Amino acid sequence: MAKIIAGIGSSHVPAIGAAIDNNKMEEPYWKRVFSGFERSQQWMRDIKPDVAIVVYNDHASAFSTDLIPTFALGTATEFPPADEGWGPRPVPVAKGHPQLATHIAQSVILDEFDLTVVNKMEIDHGLTVPLNLLCGKIPPTGQWPFPIIPLAVNVVMYPPPTGHRCFMLGKAIRKAVESYPENLRVVIFGTGGLSHQISGPRAGLINSKWDKSFLDNLSKDPKKLTRIPHLEYMREAGAEGIEMVMWLIMRGALDDKVDEVYRFYTVPASNTAVGHIILENARKASGTRKVAGKSKRGSAGKSRQAAARKSIHRIASKGTR
Ligand SMILES: [Fe+2]
Repeated sequence: MAKIIAGIGSSHVPAIGAAIDNNKMEEPYWKRVFSGFERSQQWMRDIKPDVAIVVYNDHASAFSTDLIPTFALGTATEFPPADEGWGPRPVPVAKGHPQLATHIAQSVILDEFDLTVVNKMEIDHGLTVPLNLLCGKIPPTGQWPFPIIPLAVNVVMYPPPTGHRCFMLGKAIRKAVESYPENLRVVIFGTGGLSHQISGPRAGLINSKWDKSFLDNLSKDPKKLTRIPHLEYMREAGAEGIEMVMWLIMRGALDDKVDEVYRFYTVPASNTAVGHIILENARKASGTRKVAGKSKRGSAGKSRQAAARKSIHRIASKGTR
């Protein structure tokens, strides 16, 4: 059966994508950001997931104000990068996993979460930037290292879903994944945020104290986060800080208790706080099965996860945490 083995939280700041596409990664301003993802990229190479579910929001690229699905699941065989005004980003077309995606759609909808099923969709920086941060710069002729199932969430027009609704959707997605018969190791991304506001009198708002508290609770007490009302996100994290509810879908798909294996936080990137976290389900829940009284895990999965853990240490980035 398929399993969710880890959750990844990552900002998806569009300027990060522009820095990658314009080869500015070594400039001191951007190196500060990208250096925080070096260990994460090694972790990703070691853990080698079979599929990634990427929770993100569309920024009027695939959907406009004509049509705003609250939750839109991509079931297509591929998802091309969208033209966001400067031509499509020079990144690979994301290959989908229609079999698992349609299975998730069926399971989750019958579980009373009314997803919109999207059989044709372009993807914007909300999805491609976190993939770059975790997988590095990949030319359009290459391929992302795993199939991708996009889950677009409306956080651009009121009313977005509540954090509690997102958390519970994550639980339903986990149930769906675990009822899929193929032995797949799945990671789930929650993207967006952290605190930022891009327009109005409070443009440029960043609230590091609130962001760090959010990350602490994401790791240790996520249910507390599910009670945060929209107004608190707006007040404390800025108008666009509401994107952080998407991290709760990722968190809901994990065990109640997780191992925080990595965290990175830095400000600013463009006018946004950059947050990143990697949470793994406990070892016994990520591939362990009891056989004749002994714990046994698939040797490939075990060695991959062990290697990933070796490659990454829970560190505080210098002066940023
Ligand atoms: Fe965004």
